[in-house]
Amino acid sequence: MQNWLNYFEQNRANRSPVPWEKGINVEPHLRKPLIRSLQKFQLGESGEGRKLKSNARKTGDATYAVAIDLFIGEEQEHARLMANILRELNAPLLASHWSDHCFIFMRQLFGLHQELMVLLLPEMIAKRYFRALHDGTNDAVLRAVFAQIARDEDGHLAFHIEYLRHAFEKISFTKKIFALVIWRILFRATCVAVMLDHREILRAIGMRPRQFWDDCGKIFDEVTAGIFSPAHLLAPAKFPATQIG
Ligand SMILES: [Fe+2]
Ligand SMILES: [Fe+2]
Repeated sequence: MQNWLNYFEQNRANRSPVPWEKGINVEPHLRKPLIRSLQKFQLGESGEGRKLKSNARKTGDATYAVAIDLFIGEEQEHARLMANILRELNAPLLASHWSDHCFIFMRQLFGLHQELMVLLLPEMIAKRYFRALHDGTNDAVLRAVFAQIARDEDGHLAFHIEYLRHAFEKISFTKKIFALVIWRILFRATCVAVMLDHREILRAIGMRPRQFWDDCGKIFDEVTAGIFSPAHLLAPAKFPATQIG
């Protein structure tokens, strides 16, 4: 876990510069769907993560608890970046949205391991979503922000994978299969919800639904291999990195 503390601290110190001084000149056909989509992601990443922090402290691992604080801080930084974009585009921030309530409700139901698995559902999709947004625009500010967030999401996935891999090491094969089946169903349900709710921006950036679906499936397979395959050792440098920017 000390490696993860170092990773988050280094990542906080080495952010890619965003050329805010250029202003945002988003392609006209992207403007409206981008605002609608970012408003929802911005809200989703702006939480304080109180339950997660308290669950992390209950593990008795002080280093892990600090790593979780840094992880939540990075999500809040994503929310801040997206809020800046929305401000530049003269768009308001959302106060609430059904999808946010849904995930908060599901995360409150369980202990740390299940909460992490619910949290990973949108995290896995976010990795592909921000990559698609980056590739779908020529605006320098947007590309810099989306590239940074996509890279951070690689780290988030690897961080949670490593923790869950150790946590699930000792559970029986049957329970692993059961967890995997339920998780896949929930993941695909989340994919459908995101693809419907964000269909306008995905269409505007030319992201074909089939491609998005398949790519999200590949990310899910990588994550589950990392957690459930004992031989799969992951570290920040070893996790398949998002090559953008
Ligand atoms: Fe994020
Ligand atoms: Fe994340």
